Parts: sequence; structure tokens; C-alpha cells
Amino acid sequence: AKPQTLDFIRNSIRDIPNWPEPGVMFRDISTMLQNPQAFRAVVDIFVDRYKGIGIDVVAGLDARGFIFGPIVAYELGIGFVPIRKKGKLPYTTVSKSYTLEYGDVSTVEMHIDAVKKSDKVVVIDDLIATGGTMLAACSLITDLGAKVHECAVVSDLLYLKGSDLIKERGFEVFSILEYK
Ligand code: PRP
Ligand code: ADE
Repeated sequence: AKPQTLDFIRNSIRDIPNWPEPGVMFRDISTMLQNPQAFRAVVDIFVDRYKGIGIDVVAGLDARGFIFGPIVAYELGIGFVPIRKKGKLPYTTVSKSYTLEYGDVSTVEMHIDAVKKSDKVVVIDDLIATGGTMLAACSLITDLGAKVHECAVVSDLLYLKGSDLIKERGFEVFSILEYK
């Protein structure tokens, strides 16, 4: 994407200091979603990156990955898989626990039949902070025998080193924006 497009997207995201707790700078995408040009620019970057390369499934993380993931899946003409917080999925699940930038331990779950062995999966969320959420999602997908092609987010909070951790574990990371 052009530098001015990236600046436009960055400027559409609102920073809220000390939320939900002191010391956290919250990157609020709600203002970006209200801006149709910025929202479209984000979706277009993801779609352009993943079209025509044999991706089988888009997986999205509860809750903000559900905003971007299904649109990208629809545009690519492939299925969407929700990776949900504990207790929401009705069929047999696999689950993984992790810790967040704020708050305590959380658990994500996925249906055991959500991906097939050898599926190439792109995992989408709005943001990587400490990387716990994304890493848990990637582990679920690989535990089921599928391949994580790449983790894709709008924002990577580099100062929390989450994407470093994800890469150390052997997964590729793509972010539209980086925060230093
Ligand atoms: C946020 C964000 C990511 C995660 C990133 O979700 O949307 O999913 O935190 O943090 P991490 O890299 O430290 O794991 P949150 O769990 O706050 O839930 P929400 O989407 O329901 O707001
Ligand atoms: N999830 C974890 N850390 C976050 C942050 N700083 N802004 C938005 N979402 C987040």
C-alpha cells in the first residue's frame, strides 16, 4: 500500500490512554470502522495479499477478528472459521489458554472439524499486543493438522514484542501498521 494510504488508515484509529487500565494505550478501531474509505483500504490490503495463492480458510479471532475476517473470506470466495472465547461453541472443541496485555488468563476454542488437515489458513485479528491470543489461535490450527499460512492484523504493537514471539514459534506475521 502507498505511504499515504497507510497514514490515512493510521490516522483513522483513535488512541485512548490508560484504558482499560493505567499504562495501556488502547488502539480503538471503532473510528476506523466509521470511516468507509479507511475500512475499505484495510480490507483491500488483506484481500490483495491473499487472493490467488491457494488459501483455503480464513480464521478470525473473537471479537474484533470477526469484523475483518468474514469480509476477506467472502471476497476470496472461501470459508470463515470463528475462533471463540471459551464456552461459546456448541460442538466438540479444542482449546488453548493464554494471557493478555491487560486482564488475566483467557481461553480460545475452535471446533475440531473447523479446518481440515493440510488446509492453508490465514488467521485475522485487529491487533497483536503480547501475542498470546494469536499464538493460541495458531496452535489450535496446527494441532488440528492444518497449516497457518500467515497471521494478519491491522496493528502490531512492536513495543510489546508479541510478533517476535509469534515468529520465534515459526509463524509468519503480516501487519498493515506498526506501532513503535
Ligand atoms: C484484543 C485484541 C486481540 C488481543 C491482543 O482482544 O482484539 O484479540 O486483545 O492481545 P494479545 O496480543 O496480548 O493477546 P480482547 O481479548 O481484548 O477481546 P475483544 O476482541 O473481545 O475486545
Ligand atoms: N488488545 C490488547 N492490547 C490492546 C491495545 N493496546 N489496544 C487495543 N486492543 C488491545
